[in-house]
Amino acid sequence: MIPLTPPLEILPEPESAIPVQPCTLVIFGGSGDLARRRLIPALYNLLLDGLLPSQFAVIGLGRRSLTDPDFRRIAREGVIAHSRQPLVEATWREFEQHFFYLSGENEDAHTYAALKARAEEIERMMRLPGNRIFYLSIPPSSITAVCDGLDHAGLATRASGSPPYSRIIVEKPVGRDLASARQINEVMGRVFDESQIFRIDHYLGKETVQNLMVIRFANSIFEPIWNNKYIDHVQITVCEAEGLGSRAAYYEEAGALRDMVQNHMLQLQCLVAMEPPYSLEPDVVRNAKMEVLRCLRPIIDADVERFTVRAQYTEGIGNGKPVKGYRLEKGVNPNSTTETFLALKCFVENWRWSGVPFYLRTGKALPKRASEIAVQFKDIPHILFNMDPQHSLPANVLALRIQPDEGLSLRIVSRVPGTRTQTHPVEMDFRYSEVFGRPSPEAYERLLLDVMIGDASRFMRRDAVEASWAWITDILKGWEAQQLLRLPEYPAGTWGPPEADHLIQRDGRSWRIL
Ligand code: BG6
Repeated sequence: MIPLTPPLEILPEPESAIPVQPCTLVIFGGSGDLARRRLIPALYNLLLDGLLPSQFAVIGLGRRSLTDPDFRRIAREGVIAHSRQPLVEATWREFEQHFFYLSGENEDAHTYAALKARAEEIERMMRLPGNRIFYLSIPPSSITAVCDGLDHAGLATRASGSPPYSRIIVEKPVGRDLASARQINEVMGRVFDESQIFRIDHYLGKETVQNLMVIRFANSIFEPIWNNKYIDHVQITVCEAEGLGSRAAYYEEAGALRDMVQNHMLQLQCLVAMEPPYSLEPDVVRNAKMEVLRCLRPIIDADVERFTVRAQYTEGIGNGKPVKGYRLEKGVNPNSTTETFLALKCFVENWRWSGVPFYLRTGKALPKRASEIAVQFKDIPHILFNMDPQHSLPANVLALRIQPDEGLSLRIVSRVPGTRTQTHPVEMDFRYSEVFGRPSPEAYERLLLDVMIGDASRFMRRDAVEASWAWITDILKGWEAQQLLRLPEYPAGTWGPPEADHLIQRDGRSWRIL
């Protein structure tokens, strides 16, 4: 697909309308995977794009005993391996001077006294005004301890409207069920005002995810048919080729439902299913998404068995290499029943979506990395070109590719050139890389910048997090009651267990081939 005339003029990234003020970013879990792979590379790209203030400091805080130079070396390795733009020696040498490290336990009060002293010293030295962002890249069970620690040490100042500010970013999942999410939100709410709390879901920072609203509401052709009269079903898939990696401690406690569905996938579903908001004001959009969560039909009783399939990968081939079975991975309980794959069917019970199933599928150690939302329209009647019920014409599908190969395609049926009347499905395809030519900023770049500016529109509000946990907790309870000692299995590198196929085939449908 080519851009239409007049030729597309891509404007340079504008400087943010709201200036980014100098600040100190404290990363709890500073020596961990997320900081190294995502956060530090994101900061470096913001710097290269001229979006980071020149006065800026990062304090990594973690259990490991590291020095500032150790931390800078880890940061550098992270940038070399994971940055969107390559490391430039001169800029890096200057940038790394802004990185500091402090070791400490989240549960230990001394950590916070030491952090306060270190932050004040750095802020004095670097002439920073005391604006602080606390990034919690830690297990949900430690969030309340950190909030209390920050509070008691006087590190968290409640929003007063006047500078300096304190803001807190919490990684998903916030909690592990409704009760724990509420408890965490309570504690965060005691220490910080809701306007200071940024519950991050990095999917909301992805370019293609932001485009969902544009596709729906900046085009007149979709909205009139975006309902149960024309849409047969929706498939939301988030597949990963990677297995567990080094995250056993976290993942064993989480599993695919808490790790991917409670947040990323339900957020995608909200964007597909929500009513048109009357403005782009953060709370107006968040209210519209909230309505979807409220309309989700609970999966309880017999529906738990009928509508959900969870499974675990066994030995197989992933990314062309042998992969161990999940239960044999380092740090995993050999009798673990944590799901690494999940397929489920759900309904949004409102006038627009009544009767339209949403099929969600996610998993690790699948054949490839591919995430998409596919909206399948209803079959056409068996008349004219579709007379043969044995060979029905395929339905129209609008597939929105989240990643990789970002873009969208529309499947339509066309006539094959020739003397006979013959039909064939064809695809109209739009690829970001072809049309826009330049890579999009990574989700964490955009989201970190949002926090520095204080814009919460791409973050999850407390009520939404709790509404999605309420729905997820019903499923968790249903699973608990099943008391399975072993989950269905799938060899690594395959598309999940046969049970997942049966889930959709029972409805006369099938998973899309990705
Ligand atoms: C994270 C999950 O939130 O998202 C990981 O904790 C998962 O398990 C990751 O691998 C996927 O993110 P992305 O951006 O690679 O699709």
